[in-house]
Amino acid sequence: MNILIVNGPNLNFLGIREPDIYGKKSYNDLVNFLLSYGTTKMIEIEVYQSNSEGEIIDIIQSNYTRFDALIINPAAFTHYSYAIYDCIKSINIPAVEVHLSNVMDREDFRKISVIEPACLAKFYGKGFNSYIEAIEFIKEGSNIK
Ligand code: DQA
Repeated sequence: MNILIVNGPNLNFLGIREPDIYGKKSYNDLVNFLLSYGTTKMIEIEVYQSNSEGEIIDIIQSNYTRFDALIINPAAFTHYSYAIYDCIKSINIPAVEVHLSNVMDREDFRKISVIEPACLAKFYGKGFNSYIEAIEFIKEGSNIK
């Protein structure tokens, strides 16, 4: 099984941005954490990040056919990008939304996800482990044991 992971704007600033909310670990730490989890679970994982809405769409469109599932942390685009919603709706692999922080316990605008209806599930509030929950959810839903 293989999973495409796409991260949105400002996630490259992990460790720098609001460490009390997002933690002190860097974006590279996140990528290494995900890749090594994939290795232990025999799941092929590729991780991308972009600060641009169009680039996120290009990454998904040009790579999704090689993957069984998409995990996306659209960051702030979560709350208003109908273009990313349309992109996820237009691909025929399951998608799961993730967030590091507890988006339901912060500013009101973060409680709204326009991406959510295009996704099978949403995991949030567990830091890096939100991604692990998403990977495990995908694994459980597949026939691969
Ligand atoms: C985030 C939550 C978003 O509201 C925010 O804009 C982000 C990160 C998270 O992972 O907690 O940039 O997606």
